Amino acid sequence: MKYNTILSDYRDGITTITINRPTKLNALNSATLLELHTAFTTAESDFDTKVIIITGSGEKAFVAGADISEFANYDEDQAFELSKKGQHLVFDFIANLSTPVIAAVNGFALGGGLELAMAAHFRVASTNARMGLPEVSLGLIPGYGGTQRLAQLVGKGRAMELIMTASMIDAEKALAYGLVNYVEPQEELLLKCIALADKIKANSPLAISAAIKAINANYSDGVNGYKVEISEFANCFGTGDFKEGTTAFLEKRKAKFPGK
Ligand code: COA
Repeated sequence: MKYNTILSDYRDGITTITINRPTKLNALNSATLLELHTAFTTAESDFDTKVIIITGSGEKAFVAGADISEFANYDEDQAFELSKKGQHLVFDFIANLSTPVIAAVNGFALGGGLELAMAAHFRVASTNARMGLPEVSLGLIPGYGGTQRLAQLVGKGRAMELIMTASMIDAEKALAYGLVNYVEPQEELLLKCIALADKIKANSPLAISAAIKAINANYSDGVNGYKVEISEFANCFGTGDFKEGTTAFLEKRKAKFPGK
C-alpha cells in the first residue's frame, strides 16, 4: 500500500513501520495517525507478520510529538475528539494488538512520540535518544495515554516528576528507569530489534498473543488479570501450536508452530 507520511516494509516475518516526516521530526498529524492505523491493521491481519517494529525516519527523531501546528487552534471539543480518536485508533490499538510490537526509539521521543513508544509492547533506544512528556510546557497534558503508561512503566513518582518538570531523559536514564529494555548505538538499533524479533518468531504466535492479553489485563479497568490468565492458559491447550510445541519437546526436536 502507498502511504504519504509513513513507510511499511515486510521482510522475513517482520513488518517495519517507519514514520516518515523527517523535516518535521516525524511529528504525528492526523494523516499520520490514520495511516498508522491502516498499517498496523494490515500488519496484524497478515499471517506472515510475526513481529512489528515501529521507528522514525532520519537520525534525529523517533517522533517529536503530536503536530503542534495542527491542534494549536483547537477548542475543548476538538481536543476531546483528538485525544479519544487517537487513543482508539492508534495508541490503545497498538497496545492491544495480538502481534508483538517493538519500538525502535532512534532519537527524540517526546509527547505523542513517547506515548507511541510506550504503546508498543517494549522499547529499544539508540544512545542519542531523548525521551519526555513536555506537554505542560505548552499548557496541556499528555492525551494519548501518557499519564497512564508512563506511570505504569517507571512508577508514579518518576512519572509525576517527568511530566511536571517537562524534562527529557537520555537513553541511559530511560534504561535505568525501565522505560526501555536496551540501549544500542544508532547504527545497531534496528539490528538489535530484528534479533529480538527473531527470538520471538521462533515461539508460538498464538501463545504470544495470549500472553499479551493476559499481561495487558492487569492494566484494564475492572478486569481480573489472574482470571484472564486462567482462560488464556486453558485456550492454549486447544491450539495446534500447543500440540506442536509439546510434541516437538517430547520428540527432542525444534517446534515448527503452525500459528493455529
Ligand atoms: N509539532 C510540529 N512540528 C514540530 C514538532 C511538533 N511536535 N517538533 C518539531 N517540529 C518541527 C519544527 O517546527 C521544525 O519545523 P520547521 O523547520 O518547519 O520550522 C522542525 O520540526 C525541526 O524542529 P526544530 O525545533 O527546528 O529542531 P531542534 O533540533 O531545534 O529541536 C526539539 C528539536 C525536539 C527539541 C524541538 O523540535 C521540540 O521541542 N519539539 C516539540 C516537542 C514537544 O513539545 N512535543 C510535544 C508535543 S504535544
